Amino acid sequence: MLLLALHLMWAALTSATCYEPSVAHPLPEYDADDVLLKRVFAFIDTALTTTAAAPEYASTSFSVEVTSSKESLWSYHHTARVRNASRHDIPEVNGDALYRIASVTKSFTVLGVLYQHVAGNLSLDDSIDTYIEELKGEQEGTIPWKDITLRTLASQLSGIPSDFIAQSDLINRPFDFPYTPEELGFPPASRDDLMKSVKSRAPVFAPNQKSTYSNLAFELLGLAIENATNQTYESYINDAIFKPLNMTKSSLSKPPDSAGIIPFEPHYWGVDVGIQSPTGGIYSSTTDLSKYLRYILTHYNGITSAANWAHPASPSRGLNSFYGMPWEIYQTDRILQKSRRTVRFITKAGGLPGYSSIIMTVPEYDLGITILLAANNDIFGKIQELVTVEVVRAAEQIAIQQLQKRYTGTFASAEPDLNSSVTLVADHRGLVVIEFISNSTDFTNSDLMKYIGAPRDGRYYVQLVPTLLHRDEKAKLGELWRFVVTAERKNGDQDIWDDFCITNIESPTYANVPINEVAFWNGKGKAFDTLELSAFRTNLSRTDDSKTELKPEYQIVMEL
Ligand SMILES: *[C@@H]1O[C@H](CO)[C@@H](O)[C@H](O)[C@H]1NC(C)=O
Ligand SMILES: *[C@@H]1O[C@H](CO)[C@@H](O)[C@H](O)[C@H]1NC(C)=O
Ligand SMILES: *[C@@H]1O[C@H](CO)[C@@H](O)[C@H](O)[C@H]1NC(C)=O
Ligand SMILES: *[C@@H]1O[C@H](CO)[C@@H](O)[C@H](O)[C@H]1NC(C)=O
Ligand SMILES: *[C@@H]1O[C@H](CO)[C@@H](O)[C@H](O)[C@H]1NC(C)=O
Ligand SMILES: *[C@@H]1O[C@H](CO)[C@@H](O)[C@H](O)[C@H]1NC(C)=O
Ligand SMILES: *[C@@H]1O[C@H](CO)[C@@H](O)[C@H](O)[C@H]1NC(C)=O
Ligand SMILES: *[C@@H]1O[C@H](CO)[C@@H](O)[C@H](O)[C@H]1NC(C)=O
Repeated sequence: MLLLALHLMWAALTSATCYEPSVAHPLPEYDADDVLLKRVFAFIDTALTTTAAAPEYASTSFSVEVTSSKESLWSYHHTARVRNASRHDIPEVNGDALYRIASVTKSFTVLGVLYQHVAGNLSLDDSIDTYIEELKGEQEGTIPWKDITLRTLASQLSGIPSDFIAQSDLINRPFDFPYTPEELGFPPASRDDLMKSVKSRAPVFAPNQKSTYSNLAFELLGLAIENATNQTYESYINDAIFKPLNMTKSSLSKPPDSAGIIPFEPHYWGVDVGIQSPTGGIYSSTTDLSKYLRYILTHYNGITSAANWAHPASPSRGLNSFYGMPWEIYQTDRILQKSRRTVRFITKAGGLPGYSSIIMTVPEYDLGITILLAANNDIFGKIQELVTVEVVRAAEQIAIQQLQKRYTGTFASAEPDLNSSVTLVADHRGLVVIEFISNSTDFTNSDLMKYIGAPRDGRYYVQLVPTLLHRDEKAKLGELWRFVVTAERKNGDQDIWDDFCITNIESPTYANVPINEVAFWNGKGKAFDTLELSAFRTNLSRTDDSKTELKPEYQIVMEL
């Protein structure tokens, strides 16, 4: 029977090779007192202190915070040694210190749009002229507004230009441009200015053709929010996001100087960006942005059924980068030390004269990271590289250790005449099945494996990958995992198509149950004691821990 089911599915299995086909572990759980975390954060502390001591950063201030979805894990604040004595900003930088977060604001604008989509006040797939009267009328320009939806604007796929034509050199001026618009006599841009500008323009690309960065897109989305809610953008963001998330310090109006970090001129601390607020107007702190990131980590796939908020929404031409809504997503296979499994950073960066910022989540590690900086931003990339690399490597090690503690071991049938057992180990590959015997048939070392996608050259291992679902979703009991045959990377020459990986985790079924599904039971706060082979209708009990020691070659040693 089983063989029959396997044969039926054979035709559906592709020959695509996925070397690391899946995230390999459930979300790690962090304890801020964990020895490894403490060591890593101490290392980062020292490195940041050393770097910031360089003379070129004498007047640079910055704040960095790392949070899980549950709690803040670590923060670091650096106060400039040389400051403007006649400017009374915050005396010592701390987690409440306010910076301009510039384009990180775009993510708040999109969240507002998603909320209004859920409320039924607007639709992501409506064209923008549905919500902006002026775009319906005659225009000198050639942008096809009725083909541009809120979703394409949010995903940087609208093809509209980046900025105001008349003011792009002033409002969006270079980091060190020495004047503010007020100094040159320009008032903050108004809705009329914006409409005049966009209605006289030509597109960069046709809608949905290619992605290109646009600030204007978010100014229009801000107006769509105002139209849908009949509230100003500022009051809507306050009511719908800052208040519910308890982001008590965040604001779209200039806060008192005493709450902020104000570098030497040139800077944009006090500049009212007017109609451009939805693209770059927010002032915020690391404490508040960590609250926001904790919300995102726990809700990114639950805000609306219209989109997973963390997913790529449009391609960028590079191998590793994508736009989300409005995220800038980076996926790399070079960050883990023993594996080329990809890690994805869902980021949004921002810059205004005097300020640089980034927020990011790493959903598979349940991490959120914020970096805010005022003044010389040459140090920004160094902070980002150091913090993300060290923290993700530590998170990977914690994730593998937790796999090791809770899931590994030999599980065997308690029935004396049923010779069925599964042995699991954890290493840099994830949770690996080293033996699977069902009623005396040794699956792992049999021909049967080729029917579930094992490469014919025998260079593969069998791995269990988490689905993050449960047999009983309400009670969160019976964690469901799937076993998957994973090809090992070839040494030497690679074929061009070797990187083509079309994920397929589904397997043949037996009596309607996927044969590669297992459920882990009875493991709240401890090692799971039961492994259910769903399609085999069998429960195996943990018998022996001796095989679960991590082989030395798979032990990850942090190189600090
Ligand atoms: C929203 O836009 C529509 C169409 O452009 C317009 O008719 C309506 O009056 C606007 N509503 C608000 C509250 O601005
Ligand atoms: C939907 O829009 C109306 C006004 O147009 C507003 O009163 C209501 O609060 C909005 N719903 C939500 C959930 O924001
Ligand atoms: C709310 O709607 C009224 C009537 O259409 C309009 O006069 C007012 O300007 C709107 N307010 C906002 C903030 O859009
Ligand atoms: C809101 O944030 C403030 C400041 O961070 C904190 O003291 C307070 O306990 C928070 N309130 C809630 C309900 O979480
Ligand atoms: C120092 O602060 C004063 C008061 O705000 C300001 O006028 C001056 O331009 C600032 N100097 C520099 C170099 O930023
Ligand atoms: C195990 O295999 C034996 C011999 O083929 C068979 O008689 C028995 O029913 C099988 N046990 C189960 C639980 O399927
Ligand atoms: C269980 O089956 C395996 C694989 O066929 C075999 O090597 C092993 O000896 C069997 N164990 C028992 C107790 O029968
Ligand atoms: C396996 O054990 C779990 C938890 O005790 C139980 O809910 C499930 O029904 C069992 N499955 C089988 C096939 O016995």
